[in-house]
Amino acid sequence: MSTSNPRILVAAGIAALVVLVGGGVFAYSRYKALPDPVTQPVLFNHKIHMDEKLGLTCDSCHKGVNEGPHATIPAVATCIKLCHTDPQGTSPEEPKLREAAAKGNAIPWIQVNKLPGHVYFSHVQHVKFAKMDCKECHGEMKDRTEPVSQTQTSRLDMDTCIDCHQEKGVSTDCLRCHK
Ligand code: HEC
Ligand code: HEC
Ligand code: HEC
Ligand code: HEC
Repeated sequence: MSTSNPRILVAAGIAALVVLVGGGVFAYSRYKALPDPVTQPVLFNHKIHMDEKLGLTCDSCHKGVNEGPHATIPAVATCIKLCHTDPQGTSPEEPKLREAAAKGNAIPWIQVNKLPGHVYFSHVQHVKFAKMDCKECHGEMKDRTEPVSQTQTSRLDMDTCIDCHQEKGVSTDCLRCHK
C-alpha cells in the first residue's frame, strides 16, 4: 500500500480537522469574546480623583469593599455634599452632577464587571480578609482617565477562582460560589 492511498489522506485530513476544530472550541470556551463596550452617562475620570492632594482612596468612594459583597458607587448626593457643591474645574461633565442632583435623579451608571447570576462573589472576603489589591482583578484604575466601558473580570473564570482557592487552602465546594 502506498502513502498516496486516497483513503489514508482523507482519514488524515479528518483527523487534522478534528484537532483544529477541537482546539478552537477549547480556546473559545477558555477565552469567551468580550461583550460590546458600553457608554457611561458621565465621563468620570479616576486619575483626577486619585490625585494625592485630594487624599482619596479607592474605598472612599467604593465603600462596600470593606463591608460586603458589592463595592458600590456613591450616590450623586454624596459627590455633591463632599466636593461638588461648587464647580471644581472646567470639565463640561461636572455640571451634569448638579443637574441630576437638583432633579433628584441618580446617575444611571452601567455595571460592567458582572458575574452570571448563579455565582456568588464578595468583595469583603477578598479585599479585607484575603488582603488582595483591587489591581489584581481590575488593573491599574488610578491611572484611568476614561470610564470603565468593558468588563475587566471576564478573564476571572471559574478556573482562575478555583486555582487561587486551592493554592490558599480556601473552600472549593461548589455551593460556596454557586447559590
Ligand atoms: C478577587 C478579584 C477582585 C478584587 C480583589 C476586587 N474586585 Fe471588584 N469586582 C470583582 C468581580 C468578580 C466583580 C463583579 C461582581 C459581581 O458581579 O457580583 C467586581 C465588581 C466591582 C465593581 C462594580 C460592582 C460593585 O460591586 O459595586 C466595583 C466598583 C469594584 N469591583 C471595585 C473594586 C475595588 C475598589 C476593589 C479594591 C478595593 C476591588 N473591586 C477588588 C472582582 C474583584
Ligand atoms: C471619587 C470617587 C471614586 C474613587 C476615589 C474611585 N472610584 Fe472607581 N468609580 C467611581 C465612579 C463614579 C465609577 C463609575 C464610572 C466609571 O466606570 O468610571 C467607578 C467605577 C469603577 C469600576 C468599574 C465598576 C463597574 O461597573 O464594574 C471599578 C472596577 C473601580 N471604579 C475601581 C476603583 C479603584 C480600584 C479605585 C482606586 C484606585 C477607585 N475605583 C477609586 C468613583 C470612584
Ligand atoms: C488570588 C486569589 C483569589 C481569587 C482569584 C479568588 N478568590 Fe475567593 N477567596 C480567596 C481567599 C484567600 C478567601 C478567604 C478569605 C477569608 O479569609 O475569609 C476567599 C474567599 C471566597 C469566598 C468565601 C468562601 C468561604 O468559605 O467562606 C467566596 C464565595 C469566594 N472567595 C468566591 C470567589 C469567586 C467567585 C472568585 C472568582 C470570580 C474568587 N473567589 C476568586 C482568594 C481568591
Ligand atoms: C471559587 C468559586 C467557584 C467554585 C468553588 C465553583 N465555581 Fe462554578 N463558576 C464560578 C464562576 C466565577 C463561574 C462563571 C464563569 C464565567 O462566567 O466565565 C462559574 C460557572 C460555572 C458553570 C457555568 C459554566 C459556564 O460556562 O457558564 C457551571 C455549570 C459551574 N460553574 C459548576 C460548578 C460546579 C459543579 C462546582 C463544584 C465542583 C463549581 N462550579 C465550583 C466559580 C466557582
